[in-house]
Amino acid sequence: MTRTACITTPIYYVNDRPHIGHIFTTTLCDAWARAMRIQNCDVFFLTGTDEHGVKVEKSAAEHNVTPQAWADTNAAEFQRVLSLFQLTNTDFIRTTQPRHERQVQAFIERLQKSGALYKGSFEGWYDEGQEEYLTETRAKECEYKSSISGKPLVRAKEENWYFKLSAFSERLKAHFESQPNFVQPSARMNEVIGRLREGLQDVPMTRTNFTWGIPMPGDPGHVIYVWIDALFNYITALDYTDASEKNPRARYWPADWHVIGKEILWFHAVIWPAMLMALELPLPKNIHAHSFWISEGKKMSKSLGNFIDLPTIETYIARYGLDAWRWFMLTRGPIDATDADFRAVAFHETYTSDLVNTVGNCSSRVTAMIVKTFNGEMPADIENGGTWPARCQQAVTDWQKHFAQFQLTDAAEDAMKLLRDVDLFINQTEPFKLAKDPAQRERVASILGQCLESVRIALLLLEPFLPQKMSEFSTLLGMPSDAPWNVRSQWGYLKPGSTITKVALYPRVEIAKP
Ligand code: MSP
Repeated sequence: MTRTACITTPIYYVNDRPHIGHIFTTTLCDAWARAMRIQNCDVFFLTGTDEHGVKVEKSAAEHNVTPQAWADTNAAEFQRVLSLFQLTNTDFIRTTQPRHERQVQAFIERLQKSGALYKGSFEGWYDEGQEEYLTETRAKECEYKSSISGKPLVRAKEENWYFKLSAFSERLKAHFESQPNFVQPSARMNEVIGRLREGLQDVPMTRTNFTWGIPMPGDPGHVIYVWIDALFNYITALDYTDASEKNPRARYWPADWHVIGKEILWFHAVIWPAMLMALELPLPKNIHAHSFWISEGKKMSKSLGNFIDLPTIETYIARYGLDAWRWFMLTRGPIDATDADFRAVAFHETYTSDLVNTVGNCSSRVTAMIVKTFNGEMPADIENGGTWPARCQQAVTDWQKHFAQFQLTDAAEDAMKLLRDVDLFINQTEPFKLAKDPAQRERVASILGQCLESVRIALLLLEPFLPQKMSEFSTLLGMPSDAPWNVRSQWGYLKPGSTITKVALYPRVEIAKP
């Protein structure tokens, strides 16, 4: 049976315009989804938009449109961006879709029946921008200001429906103990465990101060809190109110990865698993919480003019190409526990050193020599490839392991190392010199054959990162990209006699004048 693989992005608020943060997370998921697809997995890659809540209601009013019209316009913009960046999501869920609303209500009814909800009144510190209550300890830590917007927290009191999060403390602890890699990177897992030790407060599930949301079943004066509504997207998109085999999407749950930014980890690592526990549904397998992009050394802000918004990104793509944009995101991005700085100079240097000087140069060097020396024909039977088959096999195995653990930067490095080794081998064996001596023809054929097959495998491993040029390369070698993974990733797929043309993948680009 084909292995399933499921990955999700956060669903993005429709009151913001798409920017580097959203595109970064979605690109991470896209690279993983592509890596699973080339391994012939049955992939479900989900993204979408979060459309309810007081913020959307307010900005719609400011723009003199209905919240639905506001959500429609902005959700369309997020969808446009997906195709602009050739991101390969399977589905796009919008929380105002009937399929979502209906199922959220069904799940909430189930929670009610399970005894996990109660009605009560609550007073606490509230971050209006984030629509989130903070405990006294945390409010004090951030000096009663929002850690995101810097605006003062407000004292808020509400009569609400509550989810008994506190009742799940022990089960959550046990889960984290038995699955220490549940949250990645480990620094983030430790933060969650630390916070769990401070004790858990029950979570308000509903609000009464606005109407733009899903009504609470049986209590229509209450609207389901936007975060609770949003978290359910991961399973409503899979029609998971029907978890039986009759539902063709049920096979994708539990998701392999929820990929999110670090600021929304608590919801994903604690509240969401606890709700799933209450519903007796399987928990997601892993959560990856990445850090943040800053820009030219500073937090991105519209007023500083250093915001990497869509028009800015488009200038990079026009100059360097989409592959280059993805490469920078995926290999220099804040994928681990530290923030990453987006600098124009670093972008340029990364493009030049990795794509021009390594990927481009190595592949064009090898193909050019074959064209020149052997008239464009794959020269040798490389059955016996010296140490290269084993090296390539190792790179493939490492790459698979790194993707499985969501270590995307390491997976890219597995391929890059192979290319650097090929370069070194060429410098040491000097086939371009040997080619001048007819007696060395067989030796040259064997060297170049080994190089080309290793380059082919390295470039196959780079496909999820650089989909545009890498598929061009396979086509140039006349190799169908729909061949099964265990054939494509094997040494010797490239047969002697195949036609080889000289490739030029990444042109040198002048740095933009500031
Ligand atoms: N709607 C909620 C998520 C609900 S998920 C059930 C939300 N939306 S958001 O539009 O604010 O998107 C937040 C996400 O955007 C972050 O988790 C992260 O994936 C991405 N980023 C936003 N700014 C970012 C950076 N500066 N850097 C990297 N990614 C960041 O929160």
